[in-house]
Amino acid sequence: MASNSFFLLHVLVMFSLASMALSDSLSPSFYNHVCPEALPAIKRVVEDAVRKERRMGASLLRLHFHDCFVNGCDASILLDKTATIDSEKTAIPNNNSIRGFDVIDKIKSEVDKCCGRSIVSCADIVAVAARDSVVALGGPTWEVPLGRRDSTTASRTKANNDIPPPTLDLPALINSFKKQGLNEKDLVALSGGHTLGFAQCSTFRNRIYNDTNIDSTFASQRKANCPRSGGNTNLAPLDPTPALFDSKYFSNLVSKKGLLHSDQALFNGGQTDNLVKKYSTNLGSFSKDFAESMIKMGNIKPLTGNQGQIRVNCRKVNV
Ligand code: HEM
Repeated sequence: MASNSFFLLHVLVMFSLASMALSDSLSPSFYNHVCPEALPAIKRVVEDAVRKERRMGASLLRLHFHDCFVNGCDASILLDKTATIDSEKTAIPNNNSIRGFDVIDKIKSEVDKCCGRSIVSCADIVAVAARDSVVALGGPTWEVPLGRRDSTTASRTKANNDIPPPTLDLPALINSFKKQGLNEKDLVALSGGHTLGFAQCSTFRNRIYNDTNIDSTFASQRKANCPRSGGNTNLAPLDPTPALFDSKYFSNLVSKKGLLHSDQALFNGGQTDNLVKKYSTNLGSFSKDFAESMIKMGNIKPLTGNQGQIRVNCRKVNV
């Protein structure tokens, strides 16, 4: 009798351990059996979109960052405003700035078609699309841990509070990343995402007119397309090669040519100077650390197991 109940207890413990493993952690093989076609389908649509417009790769990378920093990587950023959804799309860091929603919709419909049903979460699609974008623009690859589920809520307030603005100095940047469980190395490596894409004049105007830690020739060049008033949406590349994943973002910081105040803050006499210098001449170590930090960022507070849902339409909570 006693050994019988001991056996039962043992089975129970093993079962709950196994189900914890299933529900609590992400795994790159999550869709391998249920839909092996899912990941290749995501890659196809991303490659197509990047072929049409190189910048889309940058935009999809940023979409994952802005998703993960607001209540974890749960696709909350994709939800449209309704009576009950406080959409993050109109939060200050996202409004008229974040892009890629149509590509995510296209991926979701392709993936669901390939899988024959809706089993791949929008949060996983965003994470894989970010990786495939980096690869499409010449960057490193990594295995994306999968099994995230989608939120049923969003928070504009949290998006305003938790996504760092470009006005921050180094201590505030470090603090913003620390709140997400990311360290100084993650901050520097992930800021290297700015090797891709563009920024609007309104985000760097104050830097080019008022900062003193800026190369004067570079400031003049940027002022030509970003006047003191007006031209708010005029674009400038975040580094000289905005469609190529390389180390120029960092070598630019070393020559005081960072576009955003927050970029140059990483090389301004503080504790991150040495890492910026290292990445500026070592694409291999930047690429390796970037991939590692992307996995860490992708692991921020995912919904797993039976939390949340797998949205049918990434823009809406299931009815
Ligand atoms: C460290 C704090 C960060 C700040 C303050 C910041 C700020 C910004 C700003 C202001 C823009 C320009 C947006 C616009 O003008 O519309 C931008 C663009 C971008 N950011 Fe960040 N960012 C940060 C970190 C990151 C991280 C961690 C990633 C990804 C790993 C990332 C990826 C990008 C990309 C790829 C773009 C270009 C997007 C495009 O061209 O559509 N950023 N960022």
